[in-house]
Amino acid sequence: MAGVAVLGRTTVREAAVPVAVSVRHVEMAYPDLKAVDDVSFELSEGAFLTILGPSGSGKTTLLRMIAGFQTPTAGDILIAGEAVRAVPPWRRSIGMVFQRLALFPHLTAAANVAFPLRMRRFDARTIHERVERYLELVRLGGLGGRRINELSGGQQQRVAIARALVFEPDLLLLDEPLASLDRKLREEMQLEFRRIQRELGVTTINVTHDQREALIMSDEIIVMDKGRVQQMGAPAATYRTPANPFVAGFIGVTNFLAGTVRASDGDAVMLAVGDTEMAGRPGAGPVAAGAGADAALRAEQIRIAASAEALAGLATVLEGVVADVIFEGERVVYEVKLDPLGGMTLRVFDHDPQEHAGFAAGARVFLGWNPRDLLVFAR
Ligand SMILES: Nc1ncnc2c1ncn2[C@@H]1O[C@H](COP(=O)(O)OP(=O)(O)O)[C@@H](O)[C@H]1O
Ligand SMILES: [Mg+2]
Repeated sequence: MAGVAVLGRTTVREAAVPVAVSVRHVEMAYPDLKAVDDVSFELSEGAFLTILGPSGSGKTTLLRMIAGFQTPTAGDILIAGEAVRAVPPWRRSIGMVFQRLALFPHLTAAANVAFPLRMRRFDARTIHERVERYLELVRLGGLGGRRINELSGGQQQRVAIARALVFEPDLLLLDEPLASLDRKLREEMQLEFRRIQRELGVTTINVTHDQREALIMSDEIIVMDKGRVQQMGAPAATYRTPANPFVAGFIGVTNFLAGTVRASDGDAVMLAVGDTEMAGRPGAGPVAAGAGADAALRAEQIRIAASAEALAGLATVLEGVVADVIFEGERVVYEVKLDPLGGMTLRVFDHDPQEHAGFAAGARVFLGWNPRDLLVFAR
């Protein structure tokens, strides 16, 4: 399809990888809003895509249309090259895991995993073999005889994954299955999902509001807001070159500096913020001199020091006062009030483990950064 990049690996040793899912100008319009508004993408077979966005951005609606529980009000969805508008969910070759796992609590793990195979009338021997194999895959070998209510939260997750995959679907859909888990288990299961997905090579679409999860798990990320695609691309590219202020603000800890463009020349922009001029670069497309702009500056790209000399070499160095110190364990976050920026407060990560907790509230400090890290977006 013209103008739509294929997400995921497109070639393996010179051979083209087929497109597993095509979403073409898909819309879900309700009387008062479009939950999904003109979304298009193509996903290669075997790729892991995460749809990332805040609550209400249309993620679940999009996933439900791909699964076949809802029919788009416009546009087409193709799975393995076939338009699926008229194909009911149970005829689509799709495994699903949702936040509510919907396991049968009184049945054993093995009986839960066997369920999709029984529905599809597999013979008893195949069912037995497959159930064993998929319980092994999710590292529950030997626990097949346990009832669901005798398993831990993480083990129940694994049963749900095995059940979604045991009939070897072409596509795996995940709608925030990890959202209700505590942090440690969630991080373990993120890596576990990734391992299983790579081992089987099953094309996967995951939905989450958790930017960290999206960065960790995915080959590709689609960022959504208000039903529309804001950006699509690989995790590192999405993180490093956000397409607009929404994406810059949603992924990472980002400061926004409101100002006026003084001069603009290709890759260099001079921005006035309060009484201070500083160099940056265009975040997306050219910005015109005289225009209002918002500049995005990540907290980890700002250095903090006790003297300006310690920051020699950085193009922008400003003096400020520590307004707050937030101890987060693995890092310290400073909130620094900058008079040169009209009293604006910036959030800064402490990079130097030797200097941890080196500054107290009220301390005079200097902040510095490079022009390439100040992304200027026209308003
Ligand atoms: N049946 C419905 N009728 C009207 N609006 C709906 C319906 N279902 C969802 N919405 C709205 O569509 C938007 C997207 O919802 P959803 O896809 O669940 O978002 P997400 O999964 O990203 O949180 C929300 O504003 C939601 O309130
Ligand atoms: Mg949702």
